[in-house]
Amino acid sequence: MAVKRFGVSIEEETLEKLDTYVEDNQFPNRSQALRFLIENSFIEHKWQCNNEVAGAIVLLYDHHKNDISHKAGQIQHDYHNLILSTQHIHLSHGLCLESIAVKGKASELTNLADMLISLKGVRHGKLVMSRT
Ligand code: NI
Repeated sequence: MAVKRFGVSIEEETLEKLDTYVEDNQFPNRSQALRFLIENSFIEHKWQCNNEVAGAIVLLYDHHKNDISHKAGQIQHDYHNLILSTQHIHLSHGLCLESIAVKGKASELTNLADMLISLKGVRHGKLVMSRT
């Protein structure tokens, strides 16, 4: 996908909050943090409804970071009723790719995906859903 640049005017206080967010979540730069926030809010807005949907949560993460495998597993146990199957692929010495098939209310799946994607150490995360 082509990446475009644009200028943004923002209050100093909000920018400071953004920089704290970038640091806390270990984003490499402001652009990546903004992309994450924008995409997340669009998805949330679109899917905060009670339609029954099915889809997949895909996570790419560094399993050396922050006990992430364990945390991701705990969350999946807590929401086992929404999860159809989980495929875990050890991509390399450090990287894991997890593909989690899900089914349930769109709002519940969105919340589950947010919890997993916002774990520290997740390099990329995405939720795809379709009405059944
Ligand atoms: Ni792995």
